[in-house]
Amino acid sequence: MKTPTGIGLMYNMALDPYFDLYPETIDYVEITPDILLQDKGPGQPGRFVQAPREWDTVRRLARRWPMVAHHVGFSLGTDGYFDEEYLENVIQMHREFGFHWHSDHLSYSKLIEEGQPEYNTCLALPIPYDSESLEMLIKKTRYIRSRIDLPFFIENNVYFTEIPDEEFTEGEFVKALCTRGDCGFLLDLHNVYVNAVNFNFDPIAFIDSLDLSMVEEIHIAGGDEIGGMRMDSHSGPCPEVVWELLDYVLPRAPRLRGITFEVDESYLPLIGFESVARELQRARALWDLHKTPSHVA
Ligand SMILES: [Fe+2]
Repeated sequence: MKTPTGIGLMYNMALDPYFDLYPETIDYVEITPDILLQDKGPGQPGRFVQAPREWDTVRRLARRWPMVAHHVGFSLGTDGYFDEEYLENVIQMHREFGFHWHSDHLSYSKLIEEGQPEYNTCLALPIPYDSESLEMLIKKTRYIRSRIDLPFFIENNVYFTEIPDEEFTEGEFVKALCTRGDCGFLLDLHNVYVNAVNFNFDPIAFIDSLDLSMVEEIHIAGGDEIGGMRMDSHSGPCPEVVWELLDYVLPRAPRLRGITFEVDESYLPLIGFESVARELQRARALWDLHKTPSHVA
């Protein structure tokens, strides 16, 4: 299938009927490979097993739409850790579904301590923007590129505490990682908004501090507030600020391939499929306004 450009939807099981109801709203489907794997736990022989229902569903989707992958399982920010078994499963998925690109987060979720069982926090925790983290991540992203010959993107994260005395700004760190680590940038605009609200900075000034020529994919989503903090819960329509940020970034990101809407399955019964379709249609209107196929490398 042709490399997709345009509007994508992040897959979850609750969206299954959506693909027949509103097929015209989607140019590509993004999946999280981790939902296709049942994990028997660290150290177990044949640790990852294919989840049959999910695997069949994604197989059907892959016949109709170009597919891209968005991992949570690499936990790239965990020092001294790389899960070869997870990588092998991802390689198998690439063979079967023909992903056009893949990505993971600028964060870590797995804690590894000698003599202790692997611990998954189920949270994307922030990494310090320093030389040590940078060199570690460069090695990992280059290794992933060497094993899977596809564009690989790294996504900006949310954080709920600040790390003091960092060597680099986020923009400097991402630029160095993309340049030396042979990867692209997945800019999550709702994550920018969440951080801007929680830490009281101007999201446009933050975006101006990034090298937008490295942006290859954008995520948009909604969220809510818990205990006075804005959360990246993917709970519904995008806030107006996210649309304004998208309108600002689109003409400034010459390598952009697609805009992906993320919605969590637990919120779908509340917001309904129509609401998802409206978000995708609104994203498409902005895409059409700012983009033509000739903009995409
Ligand atoms: Fe995202």
